[in-house]
Amino acid sequence: MLKLPVYLDNNATTPCDPRVVETMLPYFTEIFGNASSRNHSYGWAAEAAIDLAREQVAALIGADPKEIIFTSGATEADNLALKGVFEMYASKGNHIITTEIEHKAILDTCKHLEKLGAEVTYLKVDNEGLPNLIELEAAITPKTIMVAIMYANNEIGVINPIREISAIAKRNGVLMMSDITQAAGKIPVDVDRDGIDLAAFSAHKMYGPKGVGALYVRRKSPRVKVTSQMDGGGHERGMRSGTLNVPGIVGFGKACELSFQEMNAEGKRLSLLRDKLENALLQMEESYVNGSRTHRLPHVTNISFRYVEGEALMMGFNKNLALSSGSACTSASPEPSYVLKGLGLGDDLAHSSLRFGLGRFTTEEEIDYTIQAVTDTVNKLRDISPLWEMFKEGADMTEYY
Ligand SMILES: Cc1ncc(COP(=O)(O)O)c(C=O)c1O
Repeated sequence: MLKLPVYLDNNATTPCDPRVVETMLPYFTEIFGNASSRNHSYGWAAEAAIDLAREQVAALIGADPKEIIFTSGATEADNLALKGVFEMYASKGNHIITTEIEHKAILDTCKHLEKLGAEVTYLKVDNEGLPNLIELEAAITPKTIMVAIMYANNEIGVINPIREISAIAKRNGVLMMSDITQAAGKIPVDVDRDGIDLAAFSAHKMYGPKGVGALYVRRKSPRVKVTSQMDGGGHERGMRSGTLNVPGIVGFGKACELSFQEMNAEGKRLSLLRDKLENALLQMEESYVNGSRTHRLPHVTNISFRYVEGEALMMGFNKNLALSSGSACTSASPEPSYVLKGLGLGDDLAHSSLRFGLGRFTTEEEIDYTIQAVTDTVNKLRDISPLWEMFKEGADMTEYY
């Protein structure tokens, strides 16, 4: 039986996998020790659980467990990477290069650092959502300390050429940081193969619990250091103090293990479902996929339906579809998505976009329902839209936007 609303907002967050919850449960009650308590078995048991989780998290991205710093999520990990490198490498320089369509956890942290004397270059992206690598290299100066470019975009799912980007950074002696939140657990990410020095990610985007994430910090060639942004008991090798969230970290570890094992099969299953959805919706006139369709996560599509407002569509779905008409993290604001604007979309298309994020629990029945619901709603709204009528009559529509 189809359960409504159909959840297609897996880029915003994923449900916890029941196998993850089951693994976490004992750590709330029986094994509740503080992982830093060295004097008794409660502490040792918690520490052993953290050690295992650290291995599972590291394995997902081809890292050494010692290179994993647990945090409260990707936002904190992004902050720690940018602020920590900015402070640690102050004697080398103050320049950071990123793109205009990064997550706010990167962009707002860069804004903050600008107030503290950082210089930040925000690279533009092309209409596919990809940065120009010649511009990237040209932006590097002797003061550049880090390139921070996400692995895959949260709104359009576009995957950046991270290996080529990191090669440019390396050749110029600059650190390579990547927000891998949307890619980790969905497509293979390997910090050595990909040349990544720092990487931020989060459990709740990969069927783990909310409020836990990690920053990967390379220890060899080069040995990277960040100043702590949270001071206290010296946890996480002094880089992030605070009693570890043992159940959360255990869940994060299990989530990484499951994603690692199931990634290939799941990627194939989801790309078939995504393509079915996308192809069916593109049958409608004036519907466009936003961002590259070739360099893209297997479970994401972002589509604009011209002459209908994303918000009106959401209302038209009558609460039966849970998806996002912009970035979930900024959907409180009525502004068109800065990511879509960054791709060069006009207000007409940027305002009429929907992001479909499929996930581990998405079924074909749900996709069939979604195709029907979106098609019916778009058609219904266009039937009563004066703009649509004018467009059909062949009017010049440019003056209306
Ligand atoms: C690319 C990206 N970075 C960072 C975050 C923030 O992650 P968290 O919710 O774990 O702080 C998100 C989540 O929206 C994201 O998609």
